[in-house]
Amino acid sequence: MKDYVASVVENKKIAENVYEITFETQEPVPVRAGQFGDIAVGGTHLLRRPIAICKADGNRITFCYQIKGEGTKTLKTMKVGEKTNVLMPLGNGFYVEPEEKKVALVGGGVGVFPLISVLRAYKAEKEISAYIGYRNKDAVCGVEEFARADHFVAVTDDGSYGEKQNAVQAFESALQNGYRPDVVLACGPTPMLRALKTVTEREGLPCYVSLEERMGCGIGACLVCVCDKTNGKKARVCKDGPVFNASEVQL
Ligand SMILES: Cc1cc2nc3c(=O)[nH]c(=O)nc-3n(C[C@H](O)[C@H](O)[C@H](O)COP(=O)(O)OP(=O)(O)OC[C@H]3O[C@@H](n4cnc5c(N)ncnc54)[C@H](O)[C@@H]3O)c2cc1C
Ligand code: FES
Repeated sequence: MKDYVASVVENKKIAENVYEITFETQEPVPVRAGQFGDIAVGGTHLLRRPIAICKADGNRITFCYQIKGEGTKTLKTMKVGEKTNVLMPLGNGFYVEPEEKKVALVGGGVGVFPLISVLRAYKAEKEISAYIGYRNKDAVCGVEEFARADHFVAVTDDGSYGEKQNAVQAFESALQNGYRPDVVLACGPTPMLRALKTVTEREGLPCYVSLEERMGCGIGACLVCVCDKTNGKKARVCKDGPVFNASEVQL
């Protein structure tokens, strides 16, 4: 992990309220799928904003972000050539065991972005099926990436793109049709992860979830980001996660 000086090479809209920003660093950044960066957004914002690394290609690093509040609004105003600091790569990321050949990705909301990094990292060696849920057709993004999976199902809450379902329902339909992955990797809103955990526990499938918590330092020092584990202990999402075995965390 290092504090990189990163120069904007592109910052564009990719869906309603969602932008993709690509930075160039002076040296390549070694990134594992599912890791994140803590981006200094400048202005009056002292705290950096944690955003998943969506694509890493040597010294070109791409993040996709949804406008939520002032920090992401400021990020949107960054112009090509502007420089900022990005602390990365942070967190543990997703790891797929060599014997896990069939990988299911289940994602919704801003959780789709770290799953793109998983697809990119593992598509050559694994059979990947992606079940991705969006709010509506205007929120759909990343389909050209997910289309490279062996199987890709996109659904929306209102049925304006794909079936009217959520990502977990789409995944469950596949299970009912005989699909059985070796491992399930997921990221999305907590209710989605909770529903998925119920399904994977019932089916006896290993499941890893990437959690989102508000963060302070991003490096394990401030304890702003702690989550509850099922064994009664606490874990820091930034340092011990953001990826956890679903059975080990309370959702
Ligand atoms: C490991 C990690 C990876 C992330 N990856 C992405 C990503 O790839 N793309 C993306 O768009 N966002 C991602 N997020 C969420 C992102 O960090 C927040 O949306 C962002 O920090 C909001 O900053 P802001 O200044 O715009 O909003 P703020 O003004 O700080 O907050 C606006 C609203 O968003 C809520 N919020 C802020 N931070 C979070 C958070 N971490 N989780 C849930 N709600 C939050 C606040 O409670 C508030 O209601 C990630 C978060 C984590 C922890
Ligand atoms: S954000 Fe400071 S410990 Fe996690």
